[in-house]
Amino acid sequence: MLRRLYHQQPECFEFTPANLEWAEGQVTKYPEGRQASAVIPLLWRAQEQEGWLSKPALEYVADMLDMAYIRVLEVASFYFMFQMQPVGSVAHIQICGTLSCMICGAEDLIAVCKEKISASPHTLSDDGKFSWEEVECLGACTNAPMVQVGKDYYEDLSASNLAELLDELAAGKVPTPGPQNGRYASEPLSGLTSLKEYDSGRTKFNASVQMATDVGDTIKRIDGSEVPMSTPWVDKDGIVAGRQTGAEPPALSPNPRPAVKQAEDAKIKEKQEKREADAPSQELAKTDLNATSSSDDVDDLKQLKGVGPALEKKLHDVGVTSFAQIAAWTAEDIAAMDDKLSFKGRIERDDWLKQARALAEGQDTDFSKLTGKSEAHRD
Ligand code: FES
Repeated sequence: MLRRLYHQQPECFEFTPANLEWAEGQVTKYPEGRQASAVIPLLWRAQEQEGWLSKPALEYVADMLDMAYIRVLEVASFYFMFQMQPVGSVAHIQICGTLSCMICGAEDLIAVCKEKISASPHTLSDDGKFSWEEVECLGACTNAPMVQVGKDYYEDLSASNLAELLDELAAGKVPTPGPQNGRYASEPLSGLTSLKEYDSGRTKFNASVQMATDVGDTIKRIDGSEVPMSTPWVDKDGIVAGRQTGAEPPALSPNPRPAVKQAEDAKIKEKQEKREADAPSQELAKTDLNATSSSDDVDDLKQLKGVGPALEKKLHDVGVTSFAQIAAWTAEDIAAMDDKLSFKGRIERDDWLKQARALAEGQDTDFSKLTGKSEAHRD
């Protein structure tokens, strides 16, 4: 299977406030200048939030860690645990098809998924609730055959109990993960033959199953409402355990920037300078980022590709309300906006200045033609 960006992408991605706090906490685990080490946990959290990794999500994580976008795409496309296309809104079923599971009936499980979800993997069911794929050994071979759903394993499966499981999930229930044939863990089916003294006093379910059951959210997407989402090595004053008291936590955008980012920055600056040199000196007003425009100067900024309601509001909040203001931005203005609005690189990528110039002069852009002036676009 080719692992590349999906052909349809959402307009934007943002961590929920709680997930952002968690992600920023993860970054503090790593020494100054090594924040890119947090790329996998941050991508994983983004996937847990949305179900899959979109281009905006990859860019968001890259911006947080000051990494080149291609580096983050390389990570996401290398590891099969990352989903590069939309998955079922309720569950994505990952069926182990390796030796033990195959011998014990994985093909029967795949047949169930083909019948109840879709004929081919990585395809949404008609109601959009489910998708499935075959994966390599998930390390639960003694409980074969098995599937992974979100964070949990459903083991010792048969075609009939997988079908029931899917029905339960579709009905909004949260089936108990773990062995589905009555086993507690991976002991012999006939019961324990050794270490029996440890049998008493055990929890109702084994280890992670007990935790999943206690939390009660085995299939729920991470949305920030989980408790606790703490980073216990960071105290309430933001001091990282083991670091000198009062030391600043590592900056999310370390300096010096990686060479590849520096090269990107240089290219962006060069493009910007060329554009400024080429642009006719027009009577468009010089942007005062802190100025408050009068209501007469309020344009529908959502006509700019890359600007949705949330970004438009942020722009309004810093006094940017018209195409003319944006059209007149200098490289310094763009850098300032990047910092103010935390969407580094987007202005250049979507060429807001060119779009704004055309719109300020009453012309249409490809984007405004496509969408129509009254249509709102999502961030
Ligand atoms: S073979 Fe299926 S979990 Fe190992």
